[in-house]
Amino acid sequence: MRVATQDLLALGREVLLPVYRQRAMILERGQGARVWDSDGRDYVDFAAGIAVCSLGHCDPELTAALVEQAGRLWHTSNVFYSEPPLRLAQELVASSRFAERVFLCNSGAEANEAAIKLVRKWATQQGRTPDRRVIVTCRGSFHGRTLAAVTATAQPKYQEGYEPLPGGFRYVDFNDIAQLEAAMATGDVAAVMLEPVQGEGGVVPAAPGYLQAVRALCDQHHALLVLDEIQCGMGRTGALFAHWEDGVVPDIVTLAKALGGGFPIGALLAGPKVAQVMQFGAHGTTFGGNPLAAAVARVALRRLASEEIAANVARQSQALRDGLAELNRTFGLFAEVRGRGLMLGAVLTPEHAGQAGAIGDLAAAHGLLILQAGPDVLRFVPALNIDDEAIADGLARLRQALAAFVGG
Ligand SMILES: Cc1ncc(COP(=O)(O)O)c(C=O)c1O
Repeated sequence: MRVATQDLLALGREVLLPVYRQRAMILERGQGARVWDSDGRDYVDFAAGIAVCSLGHCDPELTAALVEQAGRLWHTSNVFYSEPPLRLAQELVASSRFAERVFLCNSGAEANEAAIKLVRKWATQQGRTPDRRVIVTCRGSFHGRTLAAVTATAQPKYQEGYEPLPGGFRYVDFNDIAQLEAAMATGDVAAVMLEPVQGEGGVVPAAPGYLQAVRALCDQHHALLVLDEIQCGMGRTGALFAHWEDGVVPDIVTLAKALGGGFPIGALLAGPKVAQVMQFGAHGTTFGGNPLAAAVARVALRRLASEEIAANVARQSQALRDGLAELNRTFGLFAEVRGRGLMLGAVLTPEHAGQAGAIGDLAAAHGLLILQAGPDVLRFVPALNIDDEAIADGLARLRQALAAFVGG
């Protein structure tokens, strides 16, 4: 390892709040589905910046949009209009099939925070007292790290030590409609908020019919349906919006990650019931709808909505599934491979539970970037325009890593 690399790794240990466990490499540049580190080693990228770089690294069209906007206007604040966020909002409304209005922000947690506030404001306008503005979320979910979003995130490991948490949340098991029915029977629920495919919770898709049953319960109890598509949206499952495949119409959808293709941006999409709820002064954010982010997101949205991307997601999803099945015939490490489109999770057998991080380390050592989704699941969320060759190369590297794991 070069001295410069070692210096940077030491610097990282010294100056950053140690809230992450970074691998011992410094990533320097990327192109498509590949990245290179400061020692010149190349990696096939099956992580895409945690489902963010959905058009790969340094896509020429995204880069051109950013550079062009950078030479024109960087920031205006939301006290003034500029064209890129207006056009982006218009295009999100048009492509969403349900939304009337959009709130632009900077991250997933911020989009979910806005959604939680919008639900409460709506419930207030319905004349509901604070104790009747409950938001039901699902165990295993992940909605972000701000205090409200982490409270919506029904996983104690993200909440411990941050009490007192905001009130008004109730948890049910994901994919268990009887539990949700019981949780809503008290008549105090203002919204149900969930991910159509849970990401951080282990790559768990909604069971067939589950979202439709949730929608029916929401209608019955005059509650809103909020879908967090921050990880599973923007083409990742094969449709621009994951819930299209579930046949439901939500009231609110949150987006971030792939929306900016790597440039930070988040969005809340509001359907007819809630589009008029927030009025002047009700909410805001300095950088939301920043022209640079919006200019890039417009290109990302157009590309991610294309037939070409949908076809590639279907093709590479199958290739990845076939490759993982083949690897499992050799190594027998996976109990199942689940997920949708290019959001796949390989669940380790009980014998290898807790080893996803160790396998991720070995994968990196063999030139492949993968993620884990909890301690027991290897997560694969590559760029949606990844090609046959990169998928095959990544699988070959995974084979080497798994051989080292079982041999090691
Ligand atoms: C489903 C989901 N919601 C919300 C978030 C939070 O997004 P951010 O990290 O941009 O705040 C994430 C991030 O992983 C996510 O996967």
